Amino acid sequence: MRVQPRAAFATLVALASACVCASLAVAGGQPAAPDPAEGASAVTTDSADRSAGRGNLVGHGGPVKSVAADSAQNLVLTGSFDYAMMVWDVTDAEAPRQLVRLDEHDGAVNATAFVPGARLALASGDDAALSVWNIDSGTREHRFEGHTAKVVDIAVSEDGAWAATASWDRSARLWSLRENKAGPVLDGHKGPVNAVAFSADGAHLFTASYDGMIRMFATATGEFVRPVYKHGWGINVLKRLPEADQLVFGALNGTAAVVDIATGDKVADLGESDRPILALAVTRQPGLIATGGGDGSVRVFRLGDFQPIEEYQNPYGPAWGLAFAPGGAALYLAGLDDFVTRWIVTPREPFEPIDSPFPRRFQLTADSDDPVEMGRAHFARKCSVCHTLNRDGKNRAGPTLYGLFGRRIATLPGYPYSESLKKLDIVWNEETVARLFELGPENFTPGSKMPLQKMTDKSQRDALIAYLKTTPAAASGKDDPADHDNKERN
Ligand code: HEC
Repeated sequence: MRVQPRAAFATLVALASACVCASLAVAGGQPAAPDPAEGASAVTTDSADRSAGRGNLVGHGGPVKSVAADSAQNLVLTGSFDYAMMVWDVTDAEAPRQLVRLDEHDGAVNATAFVPGARLALASGDDAALSVWNIDSGTREHRFEGHTAKVVDIAVSEDGAWAATASWDRSARLWSLRENKAGPVLDGHKGPVNAVAFSADGAHLFTASYDGMIRMFATATGEFVRPVYKHGWGINVLKRLPEADQLVFGALNGTAAVVDIATGDKVADLGESDRPILALAVTRQPGLIATGGGDGSVRVFRLGDFQPIEEYQNPYGPAWGLAFAPGGAALYLAGLDDFVTRWIVTPREPFEPIDSPFPRRFQLTADSDDPVEMGRAHFARKCSVCHTLNRDGKNRAGPTLYGLFGRRIATLPGYPYSESLKKLDIVWNEETVARLFELGPENFTPGSKMPLQKMTDKSQRDALIAYLKTTPAAASGKDDPADHDNKERN
């Protein structure tokens, strides 16, 4: 049994701030003086009270470095300075269940990942090894070794065949998960490798480094293909965007940006910050990117047009890990706290101004017998996170439903619909909207970015429609009905 680091909280805090500083230090290849101000003081606040927040993942014995979510299985992984990875069932998002705690790592767990289509979870970190855990039995199926310095990121190809690790030994390595065999070693970066991401088909791996470069390698051979992008400043985090040959990265100088893989052009800037970007999350459903900074700022952007949707300032230190919760309406945020915070992306909670008209959307009840009132409550709870009814319904993950009835699918100007939706031939009316939730978006509108949800009860669907008919969803487009339920938003 190794020494449990749980008790040594002061050491953890020191480690924690040292880690952030280390990421700052490499800027010019010069180690910077430790900056104790970075987050360390935040630990002294009422973390016990805050951990009680609904849906938070509470159980680690030290700051949490990594969080990963799998929406197909409703599972979340967390990796911590306490040397453990934990697996959580978040089927009930407000009452997460701790499934298993996997302790046997020889160092802080900096990176975690799921293997698509398998009940496997990957962990790596300061022990420089990649552990493959069976989620159900809690046993380690394999331990890959080879790196000579800590690992800070893991990626898995979509077919589940390959894992890749990014290490401060200046290499990335590939591991065959099917054969439990070491694959190619990817050398060439002139600094620690911080992040890895696979192409959609798994044939290529992208690596990002403190040397400021994103490089592209062939998975099967490990051959260097070409540089993809030169940022200059160290790159901390990297992800591929779904359904696009684009990468999003976050860097030491506060830049977060989207790059086209084929051309190497920068496609979009995602805000500017003067603190390093340390965390990134991407979700196809409902199409969002989140960035997390050393200053605790968390920003959410819409995929496609990269419009900012929400911003949140975590007052308790840097954002080290971010993952969208299944369904995409909330984010898990990891940092100095020894728990993971669940933050409802939109509408802002709990920092939303309290002077909003009462009852607030989430507090509406469906107790009434009046279908319109019931429908209002359903809309508030099930739709308003992603849709407004405003004419100018920007700043949500989904398009405004203003003027919905009579509108052909995927035709609201300016909204970045998925390609799948654009190919469909549906006109929205009472019947088609009801069908959408009877069958579920994945059946009625296959490929939609809208997350899986159904309203199996006909009376619920009828109530939703009855309500929508009283709203600007039924506006002809020329009318200008009073702004609806969403007045507090602009
Ligand atoms: C978690 C976010 C989310 C929630 C919750 C959500 N939607 Fe959506 N919705 C989306 C996204 C994203 C799209 C765009 C889909 C695409 O482009 O593939 C969409 C598209 C739609 C469309 C098609 C719009 C068009 O212009 O063609 C309708 C209709 C719709 N949603 C209705 C609803 C209703 C009604 C609810 C509540 C019962 C709801 N949605 C809940 C995210 C959401």
